Amino acid sequence: MPTSVLISGASRGLGLATARELCARGYRVFAGVRSSGALPAGTGASEVLLDVTSQPSVDRAVESARREAGRIDVLINNAGLHAFGALETADEVRFRELLEVNLLGAWRLTRAVLPEMRKRGSGHILMVSSLSGLVGLPADGQYAASKFALEGMSESLALEVQRFGVRVTLLDAGPYDTDMLRRDESLLHNLSSTRQGEAYEPLHRALLGRRQGAEPSRNAAGIIASVVDDPPDQLRIPIGPVAEQVFAGLEIDRGERARQVALEAASVRWWMRGEDPE
Ligand SMILES: NC(=O)c1ccc[n+]([C@@H]2O[C@H](COP(=O)([O-])OP(=O)(O)OC[C@H]3O[C@@H](n4cnc5c(N)ncnc54)[C@H](OP(=O)(O)O)[C@@H]3O)[C@@H](O)[C@H]2O)c1
Repeated sequence: MPTSVLISGASRGLGLATARELCARGYRVFAGVRSSGALPAGTGASEVLLDVTSQPSVDRAVESARREAGRIDVLINNAGLHAFGALETADEVRFRELLEVNLLGAWRLTRAVLPEMRKRGSGHILMVSSLSGLVGLPADGQYAASKFALEGMSESLALEVQRFGVRVTLLDAGPYDTDMLRRDESLLHNLSSTRQGEAYEPLHRALLGRRQGAEPSRNAAGIIASVVDDPPDQLRIPIGPVAEQVFAGLEIDRGERARQVALEAASVRWWMRGEDPE
């Protein structure tokens, strides 16, 4: 029976490229999309309707993948949104939407696949995060907030579920050339026309549309598929050359240092070892 993978946000960008790559490597892929027919033809994946902001949609998607494949071995929380602009200019509705998708969406889907993985004693949950989850850049604060939160949630999750044989991996991606990074002048106009926006106009103008070092999505897909092929021991994996540089330059913890501190602080090594309380 081929390993089955459920991936959210597979209509385009990194999700679509990853779904294609995993199909090419022989995985049984369930590609989550928000509207019927949104999965481009010829990917080899099965389209599954999935909006991560809706629990019923999440439950139906997980159920339908499970019914067809018998089980979900791997979950890739990829669906994501970006919001550009200084925090003083941020729109609350958009900010909430970002947290709904990038953070709570990943939690909803994770919660839905976990009971079966836990009972089976195996499973791999991958979170598509970002360098913005490790470093806060100007005009990127809303996105950074969502991805820092995803990083923290995933650190906790990894410690909670290791005992059940479930592995968690954070994929910290550098810039990739997808719709997420494509922004036009109208966005600048909208931001500048807010009451506070004028003050940040030079910053917004300088950063708008900058895609320094952005690589094609298929390059990320190759790395993500290798992580699925061979699940790493580390919690955090840099995706792409820019991410590799940032990891090296800032000596980013791949998970081990934080894990030692957390286990010490919470005194729960027994939990990780699958033992009773000390
Ligand atoms: N591109 C980069 O440079 C970069 C860097 C680091 C991390 N990332 C992360 O990579 C992931 C994919 O981003 P991308 O660059 O491929 O962006 P993208 O091309 O804009 O694709 C975003 C995907 O998320 C889906 N989505 C949005 N809201 C959703 C919802 N409520 N429920 C389910 N799916 C939803 C979109 O579906 P629709 O087509 O229906 O809108 C689309 O398939 C994100 O988590 C992003 O934060 C990207």
